[in-house]
Amino acid sequence: MTNATDNKVVLVTGGARGMGAAQARRLAADGAHVCVADILMDAAEQLVEAITADGGSASYHELDVSNSGAWTALISEIERKFGRLDGLVNNAGIPMRATLMDLSDDDWRRVMSVNLDGVFYGVRAAAPVMRESGGGSIVNISSIAGQIGYHATGYAVSKWGVTGLTKSAAIALAPWKIRVNSVHPGLVGTVLMEQAEPAFIEATVRATPLGRPGESEEVAASVAFLLSDDAKYLTGSEITVDGGLASCGAYWQILERRAELA
Ligand SMILES: NC(=O)c1ccc[n+]([C@@H]2O[C@H](COP(=O)([O-])OP(=O)(O)OC[C@H]3O[C@@H](n4cnc5c(N)ncnc54)[C@H](O)[C@@H]3O)[C@@H](O)[C@H]2O)c1
Repeated sequence: MTNATDNKVVLVTGGARGMGAAQARRLAADGAHVCVADILMDAAEQLVEAITADGGSASYHELDVSNSGAWTALISEIERKFGRLDGLVNNAGIPMRATLMDLSDDDWRRVMSVNLDGVFYGVRAAAPVMRESGGGSIVNISSIAGQIGYHATGYAVSKWGVTGLTKSAAIALAPWKIRVNSVHPGLVGTVLMEQAEPAFIEATVRATPLGRPGESEEVAASVAFLLSDDAKYLTGSEITVDGGLASCGAYWQILERRAELA
């Protein structure tokens, strides 16, 4: 049983909806107090009410992850209110579909500021309190776009940055007993997926050996594992939750194409 988040205080960014909300629900069900941080305050409040109604413990906090000062203020607030911080999930992220030649300076800066600066600020702000709490676990939500070549340049570079930051932080924070790992979802059914072009979704599902998009709860299960003591020897690692798309998708498609050509 993975229930080692009992009585831990865990902060989930972008926790108001989508995968972050699934992570918050799962971690609260596992016994953690979950700090749900987001820019969508109404949704965050509703989620916290739902978690509390189910017997869990949660609080909501306003945070724009791209604002370094806001991170410092939130971590101080958590330390004051709860006296500790054991886990951080850097989940907040935005899509950016533009490819290399169509990517404007502003869009490049915007995707970097949320997807990469936000993770850097979070790791740096949270680590000292986690150290005082006796150590902890940080999970950064990257993407398979941070493991393989991907057409949306700004998004891919931001997520590769998260992969690299994770491994670098794992070295820096090991002496403080803080583990740092990344999770790499493939196509997962959230608002982000609903906004994508239907043909792109269909083609992606066809390239996925397990033949369907992932569920937010399936990603949350890997996050809960990495936060738990069951993962106490994992740091600097990548967990890919993609139905086999990144590692086996090429040959999956080659076999399908061969069947068509034969
Ligand atoms: N959905 C997918 O297929 C998929 C695949 C791979 C990786 N991801 C990554 O997973 C994470 C969650 O994605 P999702 O699909 O649940 O998206 P989502 O849009 O449903 O949720 C993202 C959450 O982040 C919040 N957020 C956005 N900007 C923020 C900011 N500046 N400060 C604080 N919060 C902010 C949003 O308000 C929202 O609650 C993202 O990092 C995304 O890049 C998603």
